[in-house]
Amino acid sequence: MSLFSPESLPVEGLNAGEAAGELARLAALIAHHDRLYHTLDKPELSDAEYDALVRRNGAIEARFPELVRADSPSKRVGAAPAAGFRKVAHAVPMLSLGNAFAEEDVAEFVTRLRRFLSLGDEDDLLLVAEPKIDGLSCSLRYERGRLVLAATRGDGAEGEDVTRNVLTIKDVPQTLAGAPAVLEVRGEVYMSRADFLAMNRERTALGGEVFANPRNAAAGSLRQLNPAVTAGRPLRFFGYALGEVSAAVAATHSEMRRRLADWGFSLNEPARTCLDVGGLMAYYREIEAARAELPFDIDGVVYKVDRYDLRERLGSTAKGPRWAIAHKFAAEQARTRLLKISVQVGRTGALTPVAELEPVNVGGVMVSRATLHNEDEVARKDVRAGDVVLVQRAGDVIPQIVRSLEHAPDSAPFAMSENCPECGSLAVREEGEAVRRCTGGLICPAQALERLRHFVSRDAFDIEGLGEKIIAEFRAEKLIEKPGDIFRLAERDRGSLVRLKNRPGWGEKSAANLFAAIEARRSIPLERFIFSLGIRQIGQATARLLARTYGTYTAWRTAMLAAAADREGAAWAELTGIDQIGPAVAGDLAEFFSEAHNLDVLEDLAREVAVADFEPPQVTESPLAGKTLVFTGTLAAMSRGEAKARAEALGAKVAGSVSAKTDYLVAGADAGSKATKAAALGVTVLDETAWLALLEAKAG
Ligand code: IVH
Repeated sequence: MSLFSPESLPVEGLNAGEAAGELARLAALIAHHDRLYHTLDKPELSDAEYDALVRRNGAIEARFPELVRADSPSKRVGAAPAAGFRKVAHAVPMLSLGNAFAEEDVAEFVTRLRRFLSLGDEDDLLLVAEPKIDGLSCSLRYERGRLVLAATRGDGAEGEDVTRNVLTIKDVPQTLAGAPAVLEVRGEVYMSRADFLAMNRERTALGGEVFANPRNAAAGSLRQLNPAVTAGRPLRFFGYALGEVSAAVAATHSEMRRRLADWGFSLNEPARTCLDVGGLMAYYREIEAARAELPFDIDGVVYKVDRYDLRERLGSTAKGPRWAIAHKFAAEQARTRLLKISVQVGRTGALTPVAELEPVNVGGVMVSRATLHNEDEVARKDVRAGDVVLVQRAGDVIPQIVRSLEHAPDSAPFAMSENCPECGSLAVREEGEAVRRCTGGLICPAQALERLRHFVSRDAFDIEGLGEKIIAEFRAEKLIEKPGDIFRLAERDRGSLVRLKNRPGWGEKSAANLFAAIEARRSIPLERFIFSLGIRQIGQATARLLARTYGTYTAWRTAMLAAAADREGAAWAELTGIDQIGPAVAGDLAEFFSEAHNLDVLEDLAREVAVADFEPPQVTESPLAGKTLVFTGTLAAMSRGEAKARAEALGAKVAGSVSAKTDYLVAGADAGSKATKAAALGVTVLDETAWLALLEAKAG
């Protein structure tokens, strides 16, 4: 195939006219092949052929910089990554880690582990400590020893297929000898500090933009639509965990690390096996002291239980595995001037004072805003407009103001307005609450906007392309006022004065993409649906709990209406009987369902979308699947936490109190009133032996 024209004249021989023509042709051609590869998943060129096109484009542009086109592939690759990567579901979810900041947190972690596992003082618990690299996590899937897929973490359940880019990373072995049929190696893609600095120097010399820090540079380099660009970036990889495996490769983490090394992976060193909090803390301090000399950026260390069988018993929560924790380094700080304190209105009407700062570099990231949490905090720190303040950033958290270092002359203490800065409605602070809230509800544009933003966000409806700016525009034009309107957008757009495709920053393709993204969400799992409503205190974990308890949208809605109507009735009792749902959370649900406007919004939305019933995890053979359990008394063989986790892993629901819906009461030693109540209701009571037998039955 001839890819080049006119009959592949050498770049050196082109005149300006030919060059311009060739650049136009290459732009169209590369865009065409990008689409074949990324959108249609039907590439027609080999990587080498594709790379040759990109290189030729680059070479012509280098000779004729004045001819670089606005739609040049070289510009596209430097820009924010487009929605071009295929989504892939992770066979085993990619979890994140809980955090420890102080020695107490580490001690608590170890105590928690020992208690969960019912370890005695004489039992050892080995933990491996290793550096926590500041890059981005990636899962590499090997089938029959060959690298077949590399995926980013994404939302943990679904990431992006970056295989072609990862194939350019020299640290990543493309084949593994003696690996099981399926082996997923997980680790961190990162850039060394030296490589990062050299790359930025080069970019500066070429007049390009520089990256803020190695992490951003690694992320920007990995998420390139053009793998040839990634190939030119000094990316590296450390392996530190496994995902799906068809056969065990090790019994402990230490052994797994040795296997990874044998296969040719680089490991994040130095790692150390520790026995207790003292050992972990000694490691932490050594690494912190050596931090500046390490060749790569780290933001803390990670402690992991060494034995896999113990990890299995410990399991995970929605937040992350119980068997590991990240111990973060102290926050990075910097001084700057606070220009003014503005007040932001959140989704639930909470007013948050926000510090607008003279931009300052805090540990590699430019910071121009920081949260001040609430009015009491501003008063306690006596932070005023014009002050010189100390700002800090720790990990991914929102930057904070540590304290005021110096008041400006004739400054005045901050006074929170008693009216919402957005809609003027009264803002009230209820007794015992730290937060002042706007009472405007949905007449408040800020609240309405934030709710819509939450609705389309990644963990809710996940509608890519529906950003804050365009939502605000559509709201102003009354094209979107409530969530259901989003699903009527395509139709309304056809009749609107300014079509989406003609708006600044939009085009035929991006508009079509957005409408397609919306259509794709007409069917949604119940737990996401509940989360998307943005009800106060109903985060992802609680939404999931509700979905699991009620199963279907109709059952949930009916139960919530009943609970809202009568706080003494059976529905209320069932709701507050769910383990981890207390009266405060139940109260927020009831409040939501007592408001006519919310019910309208819900009904309208339910007409547009299909809410899929909750799908319990696939554990149908288990005798506990779908059963409701209550624990009481003390178990000798395992802690309450482990018992609960085991039951849930087998598909059971664990409730806090006995009711007619309880299938089993597991009664340990010294069971009290719950056992009496269970007997009265005719609920089956299991003693510890029977409980252990049930767990065994699953294994057999
Ligand atoms: S273990 C189940 N080990 O930190 C979690 N993670 O804050 C397995 N990370 O998403 C992760 N260095 O991207 C692990 N030595 C290390 C790590 C590490 C960096 C990242 C990883 C994870 C994030 C959680």
